[in-house]
Amino acid sequence: MAMRPHVWVLSAVNLDQYCSACAGPAPAEGGLKRCPKCKTVRYCNSECQNRDWAWHKRECDALQKWAATAPSAEHAIPGEAVRCLGRILWGSQKEGLDSPWAQEIRMMQSNRASLQPSAFESQTHLAHSVVRYLGVSSPQELEPYGLRSAGDLVDLISRFTTNTFTLTAPSLTPIGICVAPAVALANHSCDPNAVIVFPRSPSASSAKEPLLHVVALREIAVGKEVRISYVDTTLPKALRQKELKEVYSFVCQCKLCSRAVPADPREALWCPKRCGGICPYPTEDDPLTRCVKCNAPIGDTDAVLDALRVGEEALDKATALQFRDPAKAKQLTSNIIPILTSAGVTPSSHPLLAMTRLHQELLIADLPTALSQETLDETVRTAAKYSAGLQSLLPKGHPVRAVALGELGKLLAVDEPSPPSGSDAAGRFPPSGPARLKLAYESLVKAHEELLIGFGKAGGGGQLGREVREAIVRLEKELGVWTSGIRNALEDTRAARAGPSSK
Ligand SMILES: *[C@@H]1O[C@H](CO)[C@@H](O)[C@H](O)[C@H]1NC(C)=O
Ligand SMILES: [Zn+2]
Ligand SMILES: [Zn+2]
Ligand SMILES: [Zn+2]
Ligand SMILES: [Zn+2]
Repeated sequence: MAMRPHVWVLSAVNLDQYCSACAGPAPAEGGLKRCPKCKTVRYCNSECQNRDWAWHKRECDALQKWAATAPSAEHAIPGEAVRCLGRILWGSQKEGLDSPWAQEIRMMQSNRASLQPSAFESQTHLAHSVVRYLGVSSPQELEPYGLRSAGDLVDLISRFTTNTFTLTAPSLTPIGICVAPAVALANHSCDPNAVIVFPRSPSASSAKEPLLHVVALREIAVGKEVRISYVDTTLPKALRQKELKEVYSFVCQCKLCSRAVPADPREALWCPKRCGGICPYPTEDDPLTRCVKCNAPIGDTDAVLDALRVGEEALDKATALQFRDPAKAKQLTSNIIPILTSAGVTPSSHPLLAMTRLHQELLIADLPTALSQETLDETVRTAAKYSAGLQSLLPKGHPVRAVALGELGKLLAVDEPSPPSGSDAAGRFPPSGPARLKLAYESLVKAHEELLIGFGKAGGGGQLGREVREAIVRLEKELGVWTSGIRNALEDTRAARAGPSSK
């Protein structure tokens, strides 16, 4: 299922990176053009700008007024929630208060009655910001927007908060938020049978983008519910439940949350005897933990609990520093990952998995300026560890897993700056030379297969799937392999792509 969201906006940091009309990245030539009036939103070209004007007109005035009264440059642009709510309210007027468009927004579920105190505070704050953004000075002035009281506004905000989706780039990088009432009807599962992605279509027309796709991860029988996940399903149960309670006001009783398993791979230690089995995390109340396979007990559980605590704190800190002070964030991830690893934490466990992912992002951000064999190899090792961690948590074809595999393959395919020679290279990971290229090739072929599932076959696995396919073709030339199996797989993809557009 594919549809254009009713409303979407870019987050503030992405306003100068992506087009505010089609959500595409800056064109390679010339970059994005700024709206000359508000100097805030940017577009690919005048076509994108003109198309967005009906939506941007009132937003443009509001942005200028907001900036003029902002206490500092840092606050010159309202946050994504405020801007998105602005577009919802102006959109309701533009489309008509009784239009299906406005009705669909009104029909989204509200959790105002069961709101957690923490959420209540942030929603009140948001209401104040929206009022300021609209330039409204009394509750009566809200009436033209179909809001009869301040309570109606709080209600709208509550509906908005529980029904918003993250807008992502084809690589799954979050770039903004969107509201799509029809998709918001879908219920949650921590083991969903469908996912939401924005693959970007292969055709040149950007007029319809961004298109939200709901993609089935597996066969869904007639009468079976389509379920998506509202939270990151790689997180352990307690964290998933906390977010679902705080933001969506319900207690999840999905299979993954209610099934009693001997050990969740999201919270596990390697068997101390290395039998291949895992042990559940110890807790303060129940420090004794044993391998589920051979029953060997973990010796020093205090050390494990300490490592987990330190890891959790470091993850929060490093995440907060990722863009502000990436060097410091990288210092944290570099120091803490070995602590968690030596405590026996498995790569799929929290917070090691999240930490590994962050470490990988920080290393990749550094690569263009600090490309050496050593940093490249560390990046590859980190990507391999992250990808391996995901394998035991997410089903084949899950977009997160597919993208991670694609990233690993691309990193392995980067030209080695100074490959080690002869005996130095033996037994190392990643390998060097042809062995490395072969591994790159295999990873990309696997990634492509999974991208076709997670981002949909019809579009060739989304923009990323099409890119990976090109990388495969390049590597094939390099490697001189051209096995019939691969050729068939690629032809299938081409046939699938040609299908809908040739009609
Ligand atoms: C979501 O769950 C509710 C309660 O179980 C159910 O009534 C509703 O039909 C479900 N919605 C969808 C779209 O499956
Ligand atoms: Zn554009
Ligand atoms: Zn403007
Ligand atoms: Zn659940
Ligand atoms: Zn064991």
